[in-house]
Amino acid sequence: MEYGPAPESTKEAQAWLEQRGRQFGLFINNEWSEAGELFESINPASGAKLADLTQGSAQDVDRAVAAARAAQPGWQALGGHGRAKVLYAIARLMQKHARLFAVLETLDNGKTIRETRDVDLPLVARHFYYHAGWAQLQAEEFSDYRAVGVIGQIVPWNFPLLMLAWKIAPALAAGNTVVFKPAEFTSLTAMLFADICVQAGVPAGVVNIITGDGRVGEAIVKHEGIDKLAFTGSTEVGRLIREASAGSGKKLSLELGGKSPFIVFEDADLDAAVEGLVDSIWFNQGQVCCAGSRLLVQESVQDKFLAKLRARMDKLTLGSPLDKSMDIGALVDPVQKQRIEGLVQSARDEGCTVYQPACELPADGSWFPPTLITGASTAAAVAQAEIFGPVLVAMSFRTPPEAVQLANNTVYGLAACVWTENISLALDVAPAIKAGVVWINTANQFDAACGFGGYRESGYGREGGREGMYEYLTALSEDARPAAPLLAPKAKAKAAAPAGSPFAVDRTAKLYIGGKQARPDGAYSRAIHGADGAFIAEVGEGSRKDIRNAVEAAHKATGWTKATAHNRAQVLYYIAENLAARGEEFAARIAAMTGTKTAEKEVQASIERLFYWAAWADKYDGLAHQPPMHGITVALNEPLGVIGIVCPNESPLLGFISLVAPAIALGNRVVVVPSEAHPLSATDLYQVLDTSDLPAGVVNIITGSADELARTLATHGDIDAVWRHDGSAEGCAEVERLSASSLKRTWVGGAKGRDWYSTAQAGGRAVLAHASQVKNIWIPYGV
Ligand code: NAI
Repeated sequence: MEYGPAPESTKEAQAWLEQRGRQFGLFINNEWSEAGELFESINPASGAKLADLTQGSAQDVDRAVAAARAAQPGWQALGGHGRAKVLYAIARLMQKHARLFAVLETLDNGKTIRETRDVDLPLVARHFYYHAGWAQLQAEEFSDYRAVGVIGQIVPWNFPLLMLAWKIAPALAAGNTVVFKPAEFTSLTAMLFADICVQAGVPAGVVNIITGDGRVGEAIVKHEGIDKLAFTGSTEVGRLIREASAGSGKKLSLELGGKSPFIVFEDADLDAAVEGLVDSIWFNQGQVCCAGSRLLVQESVQDKFLAKLRARMDKLTLGSPLDKSMDIGALVDPVQKQRIEGLVQSARDEGCTVYQPACELPADGSWFPPTLITGASTAAAVAQAEIFGPVLVAMSFRTPPEAVQLANNTVYGLAACVWTENISLALDVAPAIKAGVVWINTANQFDAACGFGGYRESGYGREGGREGMYEYLTALSEDARPAAPLLAPKAKAKAAAPAGSPFAVDRTAKLYIGGKQARPDGAYSRAIHGADGAFIAEVGEGSRKDIRNAVEAAHKATGWTKATAHNRAQVLYYIAENLAARGEEFAARIAAMTGTKTAEKEVQASIERLFYWAAWADKYDGLAHQPPMHGITVALNEPLGVIGIVCPNESPLLGFISLVAPAIALGNRVVVVPSEAHPLSATDLYQVLDTSDLPAGVVNIITGSADELARTLATHGDIDAVWRHDGSAEGCAEVERLSASSLKRTWVGGAKGRDWYSTAQAGGRAVLAHASQVKNIWIPYGV
């Protein structure tokens, strides 16, 4: 049976545009500025102009930041309940005007009304309700945190209003104020949202909206008055933002691209999986960061599944997005169409089979038919690049391990779908996939309570859930950090001496790689002097090659990540016990190096710190969310993998332990550069580690120049995160800048010191969050 056309009326939306004169200025301090230099907003389904928008300037960003800064203390002082009431009012108004928003979004973006009405708008309202709740509970649940301050937020065009909600709701709940930039293709619902803010009683300056292209984004990114940046968009721009904000002290969260696998095992409910695939890759014309764009289907059911899929594709309806019976709407802009066409053509050129159902594309606007590509190699552009269109690339696998290997064969790690009726198989595969979200027997489910965000080059930080709130909060202990490291290194390391020097034979501490002492590859060493200037010993001068060997050893130590948390805790306790047995020796060494009179206290604190992180090892549990849909979402804290750590000079043993212990407690492996000035308490630790059942390769220690070794860690392709806490502001900035190439996570201390004796400053969940990433696994339950 054919459906007749069922178009949604645009009357109300057009009336609103008319009433606004089809022209918009900027929304700053709850006022609309005069329209400035204009650019057009186009309906991509027809090519018709909808309105003119203002291209914001750097001065406009200045004004917006000033308004946000002035408003922040008052917004914070309103208290949790006061902010909750405002967020609640926004949620109510979004629901009240849902139809207007949905139509406007469809006009502006080209996505179908079924999606804006049934997916985007309900999720937007839910996001504001949910975060009204966090505002209400903030004093109780986040008592050790404060708002970050002024937040710069930049979003893309694929979910214009939903991304706005994901950004603005948690920021406001936590007590921040925002300068928000919508994407240049799709700013209209943000303009309407500004009206809602005024109606909901959002105080002036709390929400400021600046329209325009990437130049406005750049001005926000480099603005000194902004304390945190939150970006969703392409990996390419994410990298630029990481580089541009390096060393600025701004917090940063990046939600970037993906090439998510959709895995179908032979025992899956194939019809349900086909429907899941429709939601996964043809939802929003495939312009979805977590689209299931790579189908991996078990060879035994491949032909059957692809036949069902093609039959389903033949039935997909494409046409006016305002028509309620349409499955597929328009692409956002002709530029996206060209990009998709180019990639599909490259597949044709390589001899792939391209299947597209016979459907008539409307004459005006930007359209692309649902597309299935088979026969592509794993290295083909269509198999690796984020196409961001309605294009599915299908491949097959024979065994579950092969499926996992193919699934992880990407630089991205945003999401994955696993389809099987075998719960054991599903729960075996889910942890093996490197992705921030795993959907089991479902696809593209979202909820405000469940964190969303990526692994690897899909970015870092989470949106939604408790973890999303931490992105907009600063631990109070950060404010208490001393302006400079507590104990500046008194001894300066001397230039490297060749191994042939008179001291090199007996008194050169080696490096520690893969559980063995190793001579530095370059055969150089450096002299370490005590507080009184007297020579104490030499240590190996680690190089790029040594780091490479250490990273290799760390990668081999996968057993540590698989070990139980209980086992890891046992090893940390054992290290503490063995350190205590040699406490006097360590105290003497620290005293000789630093001249401190509190060396014994430092050893004692190090032992206690080991106990502290051992205690946490099996207590950093995840959460089980109960989103409104049937099912549960299990949020698990997973280790990052291999972390490079550059230790502080002050408290050389305690600083070392305070960083290494939490990292390994959660199952990471580490490559550590101990204090450059006082490395000997770390090199003395080798025997302690050897006798404490710590598997080889879990902790690798490379002495030498902090700057050079940090540079190598930050650019190494197989390191997942770099921490630098040696008080070097330039060094920390460089680590952040260099991390952009592979989008590693970073945790840097900047020029400020840290009281390593204080558990508030050196402990707590904030440290564990740096050592882990949350994976949200959606599991059917009670359906
Ligand atoms: P984009 O990353 O350039 O744009 C996203 C936002 O960043 C927009 O608001 C834009 O104005 C802003 N922006 C651009 N340059 C900037 C800069 N230098 N500094 C600060 N902000 C800047 O994405 P675009 O060009 O719209 O799409 C290109 C491709 O990116 C798509 O084909 C798709 O592959 C990918 N993409 C991925 C998204 C995701 O959610 N993963 C979202 C949008 C695009």
